[in-house]
Amino acid sequence: MESYIFLVSILCLLVVKVHCRCYKLEESQNQYLTYESSSIDFTESSNFQLSFKTTKANSLLYYSESEYRDDDAPLDYEGLYIYEGILHYFIFNPTIYGGGFSRGAHVKTDKEVNNGTWITVEFFRNKEGLVPGAFSDSNPITMNQTGIIINGDKFAFDGTIDKMDVADQKLYVGGHSELAVRIDKQGKLGGFDGYIDMFKDLKSNTELDPMEPGKLFESKECDRNSPLPLA
Ligand SMILES: *[C@@H]1O[C@H](CO)[C@@H](O)[C@H](O)[C@H]1NC(C)=O
Ligand SMILES: *[C@@H]1O[C@H](CO)[C@@H](O)[C@H](O)[C@H]1NC(C)=O
Repeated sequence: MESYIFLVSILCLLVVKVHCRCYKLEESQNQYLTYESSSIDFTESSNFQLSFKTTKANSLLYYSESEYRDDDAPLDYEGLYIYEGILHYFIFNPTIYGGGFSRGAHVKTDKEVNNGTWITVEFFRNKEGLVPGAFSDSNPITMNQTGIIINGDKFAFDGTIDKMDVADQKLYVGGHSELAVRIDKQGKLGGFDGYIDMFKDLKSNTELDPMEPGKLFESKECDRNSPLPLA
């Protein structure tokens, strides 16, 4: 009996630990999470993972950007977002003198993800992976890839893309209506409404802790199994 009680308390501790980083974010409150990046190496390459649950068809999930230029726009930025129910990963990285030419990438999936179930997505930039060789009988070759893995399906762009000037910049998870406009100038993207869980840096295999909630990024910790608010 005693060992049973002991086991139950251990399980409860584990459960609390597993659920402690689930956040409920409300679009009406412009809620999002902010992370420091000082311990994350994500300029040359990155590999993140997060889980979310939402019924919203257009929303930002992750965003980071470089410092700003003179004309008040960031040099580089990247975002993971849901657009018309489909996941996209967009990296904007213009050449310094180029007229709009970008060394970035845009990868989209073919799955609708806003069905109110938990979805885990991995997204990566310049991660080495095996791709088929040029001829049917040639061996696979190692190439850098940039893209998304969802439910075991990989959607990727093959080839090394330029480094991003994002060292020591913040990472944003969840909606942020002002940052969403950087990606979608028409303003359709908007904030996030739902739950976010387990934001991880897979390069260091660390689950990240958001900075203390402040006014703009206030959020409530949630129970992973709580139902979504009715849309
Ligand atoms: C992948 O990109 C990194 C820089 O991020 C580079 O050092 C490495 O050589 C690239 N690997 C391949 C196979 O091209
Ligand atoms: C929700 O969407 C995911 C990703 O497209 C899919 O794998 C899953 O089966 C869907 N669930 C339901 C209940 O439709």
